[in-house]
Order: sequence, then structure tokens, then C-alpha cells
Amino acid sequence: MINMNQPKLYSQSNTTQLTDNTDMLNNHLKMIEWHKEENILEIGVGDGRCTTELLIPSFPKDFHSYVGTDISESMVEFAKENYKLPRVKFMKLDIQSPEIPATLHEKFHHIFSMLCLHWVRNNRQASVNMFNLLRPGGEILCSLVEQNSIDDAFFNLSKNPKWAPYGHEKYLTRYFFCDDVAKEWEKHLIDAGFVDVKVIKEEKSYVYDSEENYKNFYLACNPIVKQIPCESTSEYLNDFFEECKRGPMTEITYSDEKKQPVYKLNYVRLVLYARKPSE
Ligand SMILES: C[S@@+](CC[C@H](N)C(=O)[O-])C[C@H]1O[C@@H](n2cnc3c(N)ncnc32)[C@H](O)[C@@H]1O
Repeated sequence: MINMNQPKLYSQSNTTQLTDNTDMLNNHLKMIEWHKEENILEIGVGDGRCTTELLIPSFPKDFHSYVGTDISESMVEFAKENYKLPRVKFMKLDIQSPEIPATLHEKFHHIFSMLCLHWVRNNRQASVNMFNLLRPGGEILCSLVEQNSIDDAFFNLSKNPKWAPYGHEKYLTRYFFCDDVAKEWEKHLIDAGFVDVKVIKEEKSYVYDSEENYKNFYLACNPIVKQIPCESTSEYLNDFFEECKRGPMTEITYSDEKKQPVYKLNYVRLVLYARKPSE
């Protein structure tokens, strides 16, 4: 599991996430059945930008409370510092922990999560936790990517003698070795007790407006670079970006007029919807 501890960099490089989340909410929020005075939970809130710019504005005006959670202390602190809003709280929470505070059980009408659950290793525990956190009749709407574009780079760097000592393999998402991620989520959600389970698979792409933005997107997701000695950083970054470009999800073309490389990221998004049965 990656622990994104670079909220400032993430907040400057997350237009890919902003674009994907806008599209996801525009297409799938209609599945949600809103209630009066909702309590709402979000998992993997990150820097809080997508939450405050996209998610919260889509809530009914009379929502009662929103709790934004993340496993990363620094992400939570960044969100707290930058987004002080009425009825909105941020707290640290690992959605795959076997010890979710009992005070949160059955508290929420809805759980949202955008582009986080692919970092979670224990999908079974995460499904059980989401079920327990919801009130009867509550719903989840979550997006994740089926294959993480950084995985191939981490895998190849873990085999490169120069960079093998830095433990890239620890940061590979579990899905790198999983044949059918959608089926696995469906099973865990059903086993946890959810009904009306939908796992929607969608092919998506994002075109970067510059090479710098393409690189910054990957850099914001790389926790290893901080461990590389200063004198080797530029060599490491060069190898890292080369591996990202070689990855099967990057498509590079050249624009006619400027002969500049155009970077396109192709990815598969999974959208999970499920409902906890009413009592
Ligand atoms: C790609 S960011 C997405 C942030 C935000 N939702 C967005 O779309 O911009 C993924 C976030 O999930 C968090 N995360 C990873 N594993 C988690 C876990 N087990 N429980 C809660 N949050 C987790 C990371 O710390 C990171 O902030």
C-alpha cells in the first residue's frame, strides 16, 4: 500500500484525478438515493481538493455532517489546514484496519471513495468495514483503477540492481498480480452483506498538456524518491520516468506542429456501487 505523504506536491499535480472524479460523479452519482440530514463519510480524501471542489457541492444542501478520512496523517493535516468548512471534519483512518472505532459504526448514510481503494491490500476487511460503518439502507459509491500505471515502473525498478535495495516491490498494488479485480471486489462486497452490488468497468484516458505535468503526476505517487541519496536523485528520476513511459498504459504520440511528445494515459476505472439492506 502506498502512503502518499506529499500533500503539497499531490495538490499541485492532481488534475488527472480531478478530471476522472468529475467524470465519475457526473456519470454515477445518479445511483445515489439521498436522505434528509445525511451523515457522509469519504475514504482516501487525499489533499481534500476533489472533496471540496466536487464531492461536497454535490451533496443535498441540508446534509448534517461530512467526515473525510485518509490513512496518511500528512494528507489529513493538509486537508484540515486548507479546507475549513462548516459541518466538515477530517480524520485519520485506515479503511482496512480490523479496529475501526465503534463510535463510527452505523453512523453514515453514504460512503464515497475516489481513486483510493486500489491502494488497499485487504479488500475483504475494507468491504466489511464499509458495511459496518453504514446505517441500514446506506450506500457506497467508490472509484478505483483496475491497474495502476505506476506498477510496471515499480516492478521493473525492483529488478534493476541500481535501485533494487530501495524496496519498490513493497509499493506494488496487489492488483498487479490479480487476474480479475472486478470479480474479487464483487465477491468481497457480497460476502460482507451488501446487496444490489454493481461493479462497472470503464475504459478511460487522460491526455497531459505537457511532459512536465505527466512527470509530476508520477512523481507525486512515488514515495521512494525521498530515500534516494541526493547525488543519485537525477539518475534515479531519469530511470523512473523512462520506466513510466515504457509502461503499457502510456501512449506517446508527436504533435505535427510542435513535434512535442504528447502523453496519454490509458486506464481502466472500476466503479463500485452497493447498498446495505434496510432493517
Ligand atoms: C490517489 S489519492 C486520491 C485522493 C483523492 N480521493 C483524489 O481523488 O484526489 C489516494 C489516497 O488514498 C489514501 N489511502 C491509501 N490507502 C488507504 C487506506 N487503507 N485507508 C484510507 N486511505 C488510504 C492515500 O493516502 C491517498 O491520499
